[in-house]
Amino acid sequence: MTHEEIYKVTTDAAKNTLTTTEQAAADRARAAENPEQFWSEVAQRLTWSKPFSKVKDVSFDASDLHIKWFEDGELNASVNCLDRHLDNHGDETAIIWEGDDPSTDKHITYRQAYEETCRMANLLKARGVNKGDRVAIYMPMIPEAAYAMLACARIGAVHTVVFGGFSPDALASRINDCYAVAVITADEGVRGGRTIPLKANVDKALEQSSSVRLVLTVERTGAKVDMKGGRDLFWYSEARNDVSPDCPPEPMNAEDPLFILYTSGSTGTPKGVLHTTGGYMTFSAYTHEVVFDYRPGDIYWCTADVGWITGHTYIVYGPLANRATTLMFEGVPTYPDASRFWNVVDKHKVNIFYTAPTALRALMREGDELVEKTDRSSLRLLGSVGEPINPEAWAWYHRVVGNGKLPIVDTWWQTETGGILISPLPGATDLKPGSATLPLPSIQPAIVDAEGNFLEGACTGNLVLTDSWPGQMRTVYGDHQRFIDTYFKTYPGMYFTGDGVRRDEDGYYWITGRVDDVINVSGHRMGTAEVESALVAHPSVAEAAVVGYPHDVKGQGIYAYVTLMEGAEASDELEKDLVDMVRSEIGPIAKPDLLHFTPALPKTRSGKIMRRILRKIAENKFSNLGDTSTLAEPGVVDALIEGRKNR
Ligand code: WTA
Repeated sequence: MTHEEIYKVTTDAAKNTLTTTEQAAADRARAAENPEQFWSEVAQRLTWSKPFSKVKDVSFDASDLHIKWFEDGELNASVNCLDRHLDNHGDETAIIWEGDDPSTDKHITYRQAYEETCRMANLLKARGVNKGDRVAIYMPMIPEAAYAMLACARIGAVHTVVFGGFSPDALASRINDCYAVAVITADEGVRGGRTIPLKANVDKALEQSSSVRLVLTVERTGAKVDMKGGRDLFWYSEARNDVSPDCPPEPMNAEDPLFILYTSGSTGTPKGVLHTTGGYMTFSAYTHEVVFDYRPGDIYWCTADVGWITGHTYIVYGPLANRATTLMFEGVPTYPDASRFWNVVDKHKVNIFYTAPTALRALMREGDELVEKTDRSSLRLLGSVGEPINPEAWAWYHRVVGNGKLPIVDTWWQTETGGILISPLPGATDLKPGSATLPLPSIQPAIVDAEGNFLEGACTGNLVLTDSWPGQMRTVYGDHQRFIDTYFKTYPGMYFTGDGVRRDEDGYYWITGRVDDVINVSGHRMGTAEVESALVAHPSVAEAAVVGYPHDVKGQGIYAYVTLMEGAEASDELEKDLVDMVRSEIGPIAKPDLLHFTPALPKTRSGKIMRRILRKIAENKFSNLGDTSTLAEPGVVDALIEGRKNR
C-alpha cells in the first residue's frame, strides 16, 4: 500500500468509528474566533473551588515575560483527579496495574486511589511537609507512584519525579537543585525480571544532599534495605495504618506550582521545568480527551514511565481528570517476550494504545508473527510520541498492530509544553504517515528562518509558537532568567521549541528533530553537554565532544569523541571505564553507543569545536563536510574520518 492509500483507508476508518470529529471541528472554529473564550469554556470541565474571572495574561516579550492563565481561580489537582468522581463512580476502575511478571495485576477503584492518596498526604503533613515544599519521587511503575504525585498535589507540595533509571548522582543533583525536603521511593523496582535498588540509590544520593528530612519507602519486593533512624520510614509496615484515609485538600491558586520536572537542554545541567495547577490541568484533561477520543468506559494505555512528562500528563493527570481507566505497566515491551504489549492489550481489552517509535522499531525487528498471534480486536486508536516516527515504523504500526484499520495519532509536544500541541484529531484530520499533521485548537505554530523571519506556505525552518496555551511551562525552577534566555531570546517575542520542521503544501507539519545540542535517544532527551561533562570527569580525559547519529532502533545513538590527557593510553579498558563513568553520573540511558578516541578535535582558530563536522562524520557522511577553511588544523578531519571508518 502506498502512503497515500494508507492515509485514505485510515482516515475513512476513523471517520466511521470515532466520535470526536464534529466536536473537534467545532473546537477549531471556536478557538480561532476567540481563544480566550474557548479556554474559559474548556476550563469549566474542571472543578474550581473558586471560579476564575480572568482567563489569560501573557507577554512573550523578554523584558516583561509573564504567562498566567485563570490567575484568580482556585482548585486542587487531586480533587479534580479523584474526589469529584467518587459520588457516582467511586467503584469504577481508575488504575489497572500490570506487573512486570505477567501473572500479576491489580484493579484500583477511584475510591481506593482516593483513600491511598489521602493517607499518603496525611503522612507527609504529619512529617512537616508543607504547601510549597518540594518532594522528590523516585519510584518504579506502581500505583503508589501515582498516589505519591496526587498526595503532593493534595497538600500543595511540589513534586519532582525522577526517572527510576537515573543514577544516584543524577538524583542528588535534582534534589539539591530544588532543595527537596522529602523523597518517596520503593525498596526496589522490578523491570524485565531484574531488580533495581532504588532505596540504596536514594541512600547514596543523600550522601550528597542535606535538605531531605524524610525518606518514605514503599515495599515493592520486600528486599532488605538500610533504614536510617529519624529519616526513613516504610510505608506499608510502618506508616500507612496510622494515617486517615481522608485529607482535606489544600485550595491552590491556578498559578501555584503543581510540579517540577527536570529535562535536558543544549547547555549546562538539566532544567527544572515548572508547571502550575489550573492551566496544566485544563490542558492535560482537554488534550487527553480530544486527541485520544476518550469515551467513558474506554481502557486507555500509555506505555511511558511516570518519570517523563508523557507519564505525568497522559498516565496520571489527564486520564484521571477525565475519569478514565488508565493502565500502568511496570515492565518492558520485550519481557517475557516481544509479544508482551499485545498480550497486555488482550488481557485488559485495551482500546487506546499510546507508545513511542523506539519501542515500535525494536518490536518490528522481532517479526510480525509475535503480533499476529495476538487478537488486539479491542484496539480502536493508536498513538505515537517522543520522536519523529519514520514512515516504515508508522506503516508497520498501522498494518501489523492495527490490522490496517486503526488511525494513528502522531503527537508532537515537549516537557515544556505540558501537553500535546500538534496532532491529528481522530476522524477530523486526514493522516499522513510521519506527520504530526496540524495544531490543536488555539495553538499557533509558525516557522522562522535562522534570522527569525516568518516563512510562509510550504517551507522548512525552525518551529516557534507565537502565543501561549494553558499548559505552557511557567519558569525554570530557581532560574527565571534561564527560562527567558533559553526560550524567548533566540526569536524575540516567540517561544522557540528547539525543533526543526517542514510544512507541506497542505499546511501539515513534519517535525525533523532537534536543531540544538539536544539528542533524542529512544525518545529520551539527552543534553550532549551533560554527557560530555560526565566524560571529562574522568582523570584520563582531556576533552570530549558528543553528538547524535542515526540509530536503527533508538532513533539517535550517542557518539562520543574523546581526547586523552598527555600520557594516557586508549584501551578497551579505558573505554569501559568511561562508559561506566557516564552510567554512574547520569544513568544507563546516557551511555555512549560509540566512543571514538582521537588525538584532536576539529576546532576553529578561536578554539571552538566544530560540531557540524563531528555530526557529519558520526553520520558517516564524509563527502559534504561543508566549509572547513576555518579549521585551525585541517588534517584533524582526515584522521577522524579514518577513525570512523574503523568503527
Ligand atoms: C521530540 C516528550 C517528532 C521533539 C513529549 C521534542 C517529537 C522532544 C514528537 C521533546 C513527535 C516529541 N514527532 N518529534 N510526535 N514528540 N518529539 O521533552 O524533538 O521528552 O522537542 O517530551 O521530543 O521531548 P520531551
